[in-house]
Amino acid sequence: MNTSMTVRTVVTGTGHFVPPRIVTNQDLEKLMDTSDEWIRERSGIRERHHVDAGVGASDLAIEAARRAIADAGVDPATIDFVIAATLSPDHYFPGIGVIIQAKLGLGTTGALDVRNQCSGFIYALSVADQYIRTGTYKRILLVAAEVQSTNLDFTDRGRDMSVLFGDGAGALILEPSADGDGRGVLSTHLFADGNFVSHLWMEKPSSRDCPTFVPEFFTEGRFFPKMEGRNVFVNACQRMPESIRAALEKNGLTIDDVDVLIPHQANDRISLMVAKGLKIPVEKVVRNIDRFGNTTAASIPIALDEAVKGGRIKRGDLVALTAFGSGYTWASALLRW
Ligand SMILES: CC(C)(COP(=O)(O)OP(=O)(O)OC[C@H]1O[C@@H](n2cnc3c(N)ncnc32)[C@H](O)[C@@H]1OP(=O)(O)O)[C@@H](O)C(=O)NCCC(=O)NCCS
Repeated sequence: MNTSMTVRTVVTGTGHFVPPRIVTNQDLEKLMDTSDEWIRERSGIRERHHVDAGVGASDLAIEAARRAIADAGVDPATIDFVIAATLSPDHYFPGIGVIIQAKLGLGTTGALDVRNQCSGFIYALSVADQYIRTGTYKRILLVAAEVQSTNLDFTDRGRDMSVLFGDGAGALILEPSADGDGRGVLSTHLFADGNFVSHLWMEKPSSRDCPTFVPEFFTEGRFFPKMEGRNVFVNACQRMPESIRAALEKNGLTIDDVDVLIPHQANDRISLMVAKGLKIPVEKVVRNIDRFGNTTAASIPIALDEAVKGGRIKRGDLVALTAFGSGYTWASALLRW
């Protein structure tokens, strides 16, 4: 096939940043009725990183962004669009895209926030891909960043959630392919089923309440994220493989063609079930949840950066990404690296 006329979106730089403070399972044992054994068996997590007070998602995002910019070796002033994915913005509004844009000194460059929770990174990648392929923008900074730890219930009541999540950020620089060698994003595939909103959500604050903030919501713990863990588990194990199969079919490829699979790091048992469902050797699956926990939208770009820098992803490799999360939303992407 002559690919010389096909403009694709290539990743020209990657970076990630996590706050320095490590919280181990043993640290959590001191706060609630849980155990290192329970957490490792159910999720594969050993430790996660938590911010100190005063640090928000935009602060982690900016560090990851600077690393991706340095990796790409580009002048930040040449970035012509910013896309940020987070469910934990510094403020209820505006989103963190504009904060990142200002901190990088990008003048009046546009900044978009994507809110698709654990699928946020792939949804954001799909948006960036459309802009690049149509020639609208030539150098996009895509950042996914989360601070979960400041709004988790670290008591027995919230232990199913609070042991799973961590803070962190990952970033990419995306540009059009220069030489038509077939590298870049092959396709992205987005899915949702809004019938499951309340299965994984942060119910409050809500614009449906008047007034929005009442003390009972705090005492009842309704500002904390909640989930129906088993339902999330079952759906994640089904939907992520489905979305990868859709991507492979679209590109006339098979699972044997995939060199590296990066699933959203929700739970290591889910990642292993996804590998089993797809019949892909587990050695091809990137799994770093043991050190980071579930960092929501940031988990894929953190894992991607580690895999690239660690030499696990090489030029020409077929990289498959998939995510599942609140909404429910789920998604996949295929990239020729
Ligand atoms: C949360 C999850 C790990 C629970 O695992 P599980 O195998 O379903 O857990 P089980 O049902 O076997 O055990 C639940 C029991 O453990 C208890 N438990 C929950 N959290 C606990 C913790 N941190 N420590 C110890 N016990 C805990 C529950 O209270 C329950 O006790 P009970 O049986 O006495 O009522 C699992 O459902 C999961 O991973 N779900 C998906 C989560 C996820 O990925 N969310 C984000 C998606 S993007």
